[in-house]
Amino acid sequence: MSFRLQPAAPARPNRCQLFGPGSRPALFEKMAASAADVINLDLEDSVAPGDKAEARRNIIQAIGDVDWGNKHLSVRINGLDTPYWYRDVVDLLEQSSDRLDQIMIPKVGCAADVYAVDALVTAVEAAKGRKKRIALEVIIETAAGIAHVEEIAASSPRLQAMSLGAADFAASMGMQTTGIGGTQENYYMVREGVKHWSDPWHWAQAAIVAACRTHGVLPVDGPFGDFSDDEGFLAQARRSATLGMVGKWAIHPKQIALANEVFTPSEAQVSEAREILAAMEAAKSAGQGAATYKGRLIDIASMRQAEVIVRQAEIIAG
Ligand code: COA
Ligand code: MG
Repeated sequence: MSFRLQPAAPARPNRCQLFGPGSRPALFEKMAASAADVINLDLEDSVAPGDKAEARRNIIQAIGDVDWGNKHLSVRINGLDTPYWYRDVVDLLEQSSDRLDQIMIPKVGCAADVYAVDALVTAVEAAKGRKKRIALEVIIETAAGIAHVEEIAASSPRLQAMSLGAADFAASMGMQTTGIGGTQENYYMVREGVKHWSDPWHWAQAAIVAACRTHGVLPVDGPFGDFSDDEGFLAQARRSATLGMVGKWAIHPKQIALANEVFTPSEAQVSEAREILAAMEAAKSAGQGAATYKGRLIDIASMRQAEVIVRQAEIIAG
């Protein structure tokens, strides 16, 4: 480890973030009753320009009226390139109850975008005497966002999570696809005449995970658009989990159980991790830093790997 230690990310479950448009208040009770860890009420791209003001009012009312249980309650505001975002922040923080946990900022391109929202949030919080300090989440979904991902991850002590937004990311990058996440037909290699599909989202995910882990932020995989394709969702989510992401969005309730399944370490994974820890404790008592477990090498790094899984299971178990 460097002299500068890696900070821990917030210790809360973030396996599934369920989205719903602020202009469809009939969904709010269903969202609250779901098994998602995080709720993202949307003011941005699922709300038509003419519905922004009403969606804001719906959300402000629902924050206080709906029983959100112990969910992490977040509202996605409009981007800083729109005329809506300041009113989103001001109205939310002046008018909603203290139940609100987080504001999500879309299309963040540099640390100064977060600074601007942080400054406004700080001022309104102080003016209104709000007791709960609002957390921030950002979406990396532009070329500028991924180019500046590390400074964004370091931008504010309020920042708790960072998601990859596949659709806007693809558009901003000029990618030749209309797919939202998952396998892309034309992204393949050929060996001996056989196609092998690769993962065009991989490098952006890895960059987000590295930036997040450096600065104690939760890395999250964003939407998978084809909610009729469970197998495709599971494959994408498993790759994200393998890369170090802690959860994934659901843009339809069908996807919640799939995300929870993938991002909850299985009993088999947890018991193997505990066995590795026990085997290493035994090795250390015998004065050894390395040992054999089921025919393979384990050493002190294996303990750190096992601890990631055990810690994740403990956070989820509460
Ligand atoms: N949260 C909770 N419940 C939802 C839901 C959501 N996001 N979307 C749909 N439902 C409910 C429906 O109300 C319906 O409930 P019912 O069985 O009690 O009638 C059930 O789930 C099945 O819904 P379905 O008919 O398949 O979907 P729909 O046509 O009503 O809506 C979408 C489909 C994609 C438009 C809708 O899911 C949606 O708006 N998703 C979120 C979009 C969003 O927020 N995007 C921004 C982030 S990318
Ligand atoms: Mg987007």
